[in-house]
Amino acid sequence: MASPAARPLTALKSGPLRGRVRVPGDKSISHRALMLGALAVGETVVTGLLEAEDVMNTAAAMRAFGATVIRDDDGTFRVRGLGVGGLMEPTGIIDFGNAGTGVRLTMGLAAAQPIAVTFTGDASLVKRPMGRVLEPLSEMGVEVIARSGGRLPLTMRGSRLPLPITYRLPVPSAQVKSAVLLAGLGTPGVTTVIEPVFTRDHTERMLRGFGADIEIVDEPGGGRRIALAGRPELKPQAIDVPADPSSAAFPIVAATLVPGSDVTVEGVLMNPARIGLIDTLLDMGADIEVTAERETGGERLADLRVRHAELAGVTVPAERAPSMIDEYPILAVAAAAASGETRMLGIGEMRVKESDRIAAVVAGLRANGVACADGPDWLSVRGGRIAGGGRVTTHLDHRIAMSFLVLGLVSGNPVTVDDAAPIATSFPTFEALMAGLGASFEAAEAADA
Ligand code: S3P
Repeated sequence: MASPAARPLTALKSGPLRGRVRVPGDKSISHRALMLGALAVGETVVTGLLEAEDVMNTAAAMRAFGATVIRDDDGTFRVRGLGVGGLMEPTGIIDFGNAGTGVRLTMGLAAAQPIAVTFTGDASLVKRPMGRVLEPLSEMGVEVIARSGGRLPLTMRGSRLPLPITYRLPVPSAQVKSAVLLAGLGTPGVTTVIEPVFTRDHTERMLRGFGADIEIVDEPGGGRRIALAGRPELKPQAIDVPADPSSAAFPIVAATLVPGSDVTVEGVLMNPARIGLIDTLLDMGADIEVTAERETGGERLADLRVRHAELAGVTVPAERAPSMIDEYPILAVAAAAASGETRMLGIGEMRVKESDRIAAVVAGLRANGVACADGPDWLSVRGGRIAGGGRVTTHLDHRIAMSFLVLGLVSGNPVTVDDAAPIATSFPTFEALMAGLGASFEAAEAADA
């Protein structure tokens, strides 16, 4: 599966990567800033918003609900909200493209109002499970008409009399947690989510920033209980979005692998629920210096200076998975260049991302001469010299495309991805930024040309 206008791209072995860069704004925070801005009374001002397809689909969705979202010439976004309970029924179908976070969180946003909304997405998103979100929302009173397994396209009708629930997450998913909390905003009483495993907490932090009454306590056996009082008046905020650690991962791993490299990535979000990759690379022997640590808007940031280092394989424990769930494809590339074996455990959620990422990584590594093995929820990679020369199928998955382009920078022979177009969903400046550091890419022929 490739995008309608597939754009094959080849990465070639490259010399040292050098320079200072800033990757675009965090995708998770960008979606949430637009959504909470749409529910606040007054104007929320967002700087550093990620201007990529996924987030622009959320901006379009908020406009479809009646919020005003304006972009100033300098890239500042202004969101004039409608107040909790003030969303209007969209007249058309809301197409979220490739964006799982966008569609799942918006389902929560629309759940506590009697409006009908029809959602769809691209060839990747229509395959992804929505039942994990629709199940708790149905308990709160949402009605759903969907294909089996709750796949898109689907129509939901929010509830006139929403019920608060206490919901224990059956999967470690920040999207499910956030959808229930956003539904809880419009629900009278207290909505509670219990997460047995800590997942990214941007929704909770931002809700608190917008003035919601939210209480978070540790659960006796581990995990957290999050209780949100419904129907607050949200106060508009000024939000400066930090650089996305999931995008920073690509220049960080590239600089680690390419001999002679010295790269600094500025202003990276260092939320503890997002930096599992940094911890893992350090365990493997990476040279990453965390400098200029600071705080803005309740989030920690830092500049990361990365120099080339030889890596050794490690076992990544299952408990670390939620803090690096989007980073396993690029970790697998680092593992391919490391000595020995790297084992990644408890990563079953990778199978329901933009693609089945375990399958896509295994196929891509084998096509380039790297030995690996996998099971339902694990992946193991045997590192060493990387032959390269393979063509990788990206399955409309931006992170598969970027990961294998990084592999090509250190492979014996060039590595081609069948479609680099999906990179625009999260990191439109990836090629230019990497080329600016010294990475070598060239347009490739379509397979059937
Ligand atoms: C996200 C949560 C994660 C992650 C996704 C963004 C979010 O998904 O993979 O890219 O912004 O809440 P899950 O909640 O399904 O793990």
